[in-house]
Amino acid sequence: MKGIILAGGLGTRLNPLTAITNKHLLPVYDKPMIFYPIKTLVNAGIKDIMIVCGGNNAGDFLRLLGNGSAFGLKHVNYTYQQGQGGIAEAVGLTAHFAAGDKVVIMLGDNIIEKNIKKQVLDFERQKSGARILLKEVQNPREYGIAELDGDRISNIVEKPDNPKTNFAVIGIYMYDNSVFEIVRTLKPSKRGELEITDVNNAYIQKGQMSYSYLDGYWADAGESIEALLETNNFVKKYGANKMD
Ligand code: G1P
Repeated sequence: MKGIILAGGLGTRLNPLTAITNKHLLPVYDKPMIFYPIKTLVNAGIKDIMIVCGGNNAGDFLRLLGNGSAFGLKHVNYTYQQGQGGIAEAVGLTAHFAAGDKVVIMLGDNIIEKNIKKQVLDFERQKSGARILLKEVQNPREYGIAELDGDRISNIVEKPDNPKTNFAVIGIYMYDNSVFEIVRTLKPSKRGELEITDVNNAYIQKGQMSYSYLDGYWADAGESIEALLETNNFVKKYGANKMD
């Protein structure tokens, strides 16, 4: 199993904090934002990690993280996403790194409280397909939202105007290696990006999507200045990346 952290994009929703630096380098309480998703993957037992950098000051990731000794890693892999082609485009850049393996992908601005070891293990045991994690939210218009038919996900809508549920698809995606074929079939959305929601819907259409509900706190810290502040306050008060 390989781990991939996506840290590209221009972070325009956090302007002017992101005018000269990358969103994922901003502080969340006492650490740069990207430390949290790396720790999440490492705590879940994933040691082989690639970081997709991009946007402003992409070179700073190397200076900050080096070979990952702060996380007990011997080596970190890096690649570079030019422009704002979307999450699914960034995934496509990691095909050579995945080299036929399954992948756990985490967005560099997603911060969670608890360990996802169990979900990763469930996915390891899953022969093929994909697994995503859902979390109930108050502001469903800001996320990819899952529509349910009984206990099956029937569709995911990206930032819906009229959300049918409050279950957001959080930024941790587990895929078998067919994800790279799916990415090659995608067309840019209205906002000009290859959407991760289209990847997930492709798995749903093949009947190959499983999911679990995430336990504990989840933040999309890059969603707005308010979300960033709330995440800082949460992490200060309660911590993140607990071992269980
Ligand atoms: C992205 C995805 C969205 C998902 C969210 C989780 O949105 O497109 O489906 O719910 O991450 O953080 P973004 O925050 O990049 O707009």
